[in-house]
Amino acid sequence: MKKLLFQLDTDTIANAFDTIAAYDGGADHVIRVPGMTPANVASIVEGTIFTRPPSSKKFTALFVTGSNIGDGQALFDAVKKHFFGKFRVSMMLDSNGANTTSAAAVACVEKHCRPAGKRAVILAGTGPVGQRAAVLLAKLGASVLVTSRQQARAAAVCAAMAQRFGVTLEAAGVADAASIAACLDGAHIVLATGAAGVQLLSEAQWAEHPTLELIMDANATPPLGIGGIEMTDRGSERHGKVCYGALGFGGLKLEVHRACVARLFETNDLLLDAPDIFEIARNAARAR
Ligand SMILES: NC(=O)c1ccc[n+]([C@@H]2O[C@H](COP(=O)([O-])OP(=O)(O)OC[C@H]3O[C@@H](n4cnc5c(N)ncnc54)[C@H](OP(=O)(O)O)[C@@H]3O)[C@@H](O)[C@H]2O)c1
Repeated sequence: MKKLLFQLDTDTIANAFDTIAAYDGGADHVIRVPGMTPANVASIVEGTIFTRPPSSKKFTALFVTGSNIGDGQALFDAVKKHFFGKFRVSMMLDSNGANTTSAAAVACVEKHCRPAGKRAVILAGTGPVGQRAAVLLAKLGASVLVTSRQQARAAAVCAAMAQRFGVTLEAAGVADAASIAACLDGAHIVLATGAAGVQLLSEAQWAEHPTLELIMDANATPPLGIGGIEMTDRGSERHGKVCYGALGFGGLKLEVHRACVARLFETNDLLLDAPDIFEIARNAARAR
């Protein structure tokens, strides 16, 4: 029986990265469906849950992709409402790589320190990756501050994550180096999740910082999000702090992405969102 993965993308052009990762994760055929919304997804879901017999339903799965995590979440939730009884297939949410990237990042953090009781700052944490990383660190017991150029955007993200995942996050607006420095006061972990090619923190801002222990940057497009580190840093020590660049945890992200796709075909009732994908990342990180 062929392993069929329906890539339900919320954008008008389905993401190629996710298609490739899906094949690499073991799908025999990836059916790319762009333009998916809660309003038009019903017929595809019904096709996937009714066609194959119970013993073979696990060979059909769904993968929600696209650039907007809010749209992805809404689609993921809408699809779930069409499932009932044994009429369901496994599904994964990874809009903009948010879950696999944040899971890999936080699994790397865990290799160096226990987040419980630590203060973590997610710089420009309003994007898909930052939101999910904030959730994962908070679930591990860190107190987490999410920054944005607009306080209201950070507050909206914190409220949305509280509603979806039951976590408490703090929000801060940052306008300049001084306000970023104030956010880092007492911080142990800083994770930059800003847009590609935007520097958020200079080397001078973190090199002599008295409490920071771990510096991590998700941006692989120069200039990097954090100055003074290399995108290939993978637990490198700089100025007495553990440093990770985007490529330093990017390999784990890809491994996790492929592992998640493989898991979809093991049963027909798996629903992979941030916490579940983090468990897969954690196991992959420990096995390295
Ligand atoms: N390593 C990997 O495997 C991997 C995988 C996927 C993505 N990534 C990278 O991870 C990072 C985060 O991805 P994402 O999709 O979550 O990011 P994103 O949505 O593109 O951007 C995140 C936030 O950056 C802020 N921002 C945008 N332009 C800015 C500017 N000029 N100055 C300061 N802040 C700015 C915005 O926050 P406010 O408007 O709220 O300030 C935005 O919400 C990106 O650099 C991406 O390339 C890495």
